[in-house]
Amino acid sequence: MPSKTFLDPATAIEHLSMYDRSDGLAVGELMNSAVHGGLTYNDFLMLPGKIDFGAHEVTTESRVTRNVVLRTPFMSSPMDTVTEGEMAIAMALLGGIGVIHHNQSPEEQAAMVRAVKRHENGFIANPVVLSPSHRVEHVLDVKERLGFAGVPITDTGALGGKLLGIVTNRDIQFRSPTTPLSEVMTTDLVTAPEGITLQEANDILRDSKKGKLPIVNKEGRLTSLLARSDLLKNQNYPLASKLPESKQLYAAAAIGTRPADRARLAVLVDAGLDIVVLDSSQGNSVYQVETIQWIKQTYPKLEVIAGNVVTREQAAALIAAGADGLRIGMGSGSICITQEVMAVGRPQATAVYAVAEFASKFGVPVIADGGIGNVGHIVKALALGAGAVMMGGLLAGTTEAPGEYFWHEGKRVKAYRGMGSIEAMEQGKPMPPSAEVNGTGPVKHSRKKATHENAATTRYFSESSAVKVAQGVSGDVQDKGTVRAFIPYLYTGLQHSLQDIGVRNVSQLQEGVRAGQVRFELRTASAQVEGGVHGLNSYTKRLFA
Ligand code: IMP
Repeated sequence: MPSKTFLDPATAIEHLSMYDRSDGLAVGELMNSAVHGGLTYNDFLMLPGKIDFGAHEVTTESRVTRNVVLRTPFMSSPMDTVTEGEMAIAMALLGGIGVIHHNQSPEEQAAMVRAVKRHENGFIANPVVLSPSHRVEHVLDVKERLGFAGVPITDTGALGGKLLGIVTNRDIQFRSPTTPLSEVMTTDLVTAPEGITLQEANDILRDSKKGKLPIVNKEGRLTSLLARSDLLKNQNYPLASKLPESKQLYAAAAIGTRPADRARLAVLVDAGLDIVVLDSSQGNSVYQVETIQWIKQTYPKLEVIAGNVVTREQAAALIAAGADGLRIGMGSGSICITQEVMAVGRPQATAVYAVAEFASKFGVPVIADGGIGNVGHIVKALALGAGAVMMGGLLAGTTEAPGEYFWHEGKRVKAYRGMGSIEAMEQGKPMPPSAEVNGTGPVKHSRKKATHENAATTRYFSESSAVKVAQGVSGDVQDKGTVRAFIPYLYTGLQHSLQDIGVRNVSQLQEGVRAGQVRFELRTASAQVEGGVHGLNSYTKRLFA
């Protein structure tokens, strides 16, 4: 056999320059829909780069609106089976944001916004305050609504009044609801002066062994409060999404674009809202354009996320109107039948790329909404230009999602439904019928009469239609445990993925994609089979430990 001559292995890296292009595809080649059609996240992969750093060094900071940067690019959907107060607080503590849904009265939604804002990890700038003439029942009411009973008492019953005492859980135990607080409050107070640093105040709180530390000015007037429970939380949530100046968690909530939504927004802003999401399945409407312009005039400091959009043309209208961020997705949600029924929508990866590329020229960040089923989808959405991903189905089975767990076909599940499902459009909180809590029947929903304009119908422009055409389904998803474990899994998974790609953060990923250094490959149908688990007789899939 003739011997073959090989190149010197030492020249392998230099030899790469002999090729006129890098391996794989640049993003522009991948996203050529005239050639490949519209793509979903599963249709492509990213090629590995070079690892010269540890996964723990990877940071995931990312901009989600013009003025809001999150440490983790995760958002939960404004859906009535996904985001209420508990989810919004947990998401913000973990570095993301939960958008509180509007399929409820403005007052209920505002109470959730208030709960997020009050869940301070630092000074509580706007604490609940009562006066000596309030009664034990008022504290019980606070406890029921907001989950705590430690309330400072001032002469005026408001912040800025002279501090007279504090009422805690122990003070009201075994007391009649009608007892005035002047009879039960503790007057032996440990306080700290205004201007004290968080660190110093934390030290006093720790040494005093009290639950709450009132902060007072020179005249003894209450200016803020520090809570022991926040001190503990502070240490546990280093990535928390907080306003730099006040240390309060970010609060986001959704509204529609009808006249009644302006009154709703006023209540939400009063409760401390930072970000409003205009919730519409097709964002390019005169209603939405007018709503954005009105919000920008009325509440110039409020960040407005508009949408949903999937084309440059839709995006242009909302950017021109003043949107601070865009939500991308039409028909990609796990509960969604929009593409099937309306014949309108766009495969999600193509939509994210097209809109993100356009919006980036105007400094408007975008959120990839819907169709996120695993960590890989998150990485792909970020690579295509998204500042964050919005998740519904992936989070609906967690403890923090609204609703109770029940059993369905032997699995512990929670209800999850599209906001365009008949069930959501007819209102009624999703809950398992009691007879089926341990059964195997289909999910049903209670029918509570709406006390407000139904958010689901306005989202799908069907409030005036005699026939409601569904754009979503109603079902259930499996128990996922707490988001306090699930989001850290997504975060760590993301760090490892970026390490594989060879980038240290989200901006490096996006710059690498733009510059053609981060490369892609299309996946054929059989490549997708190959990339999944295959050929096993049986297996268990545990995602994290
Ligand atoms: P998922 O994360 O794939 O479950 O998708 C959640 C997203 O689907 C939401 O954030 C909405 O944008 C969208 N969505 C919610 N309800 C419906 C519906 O009924 N039809 C279509 N899309 C929906």
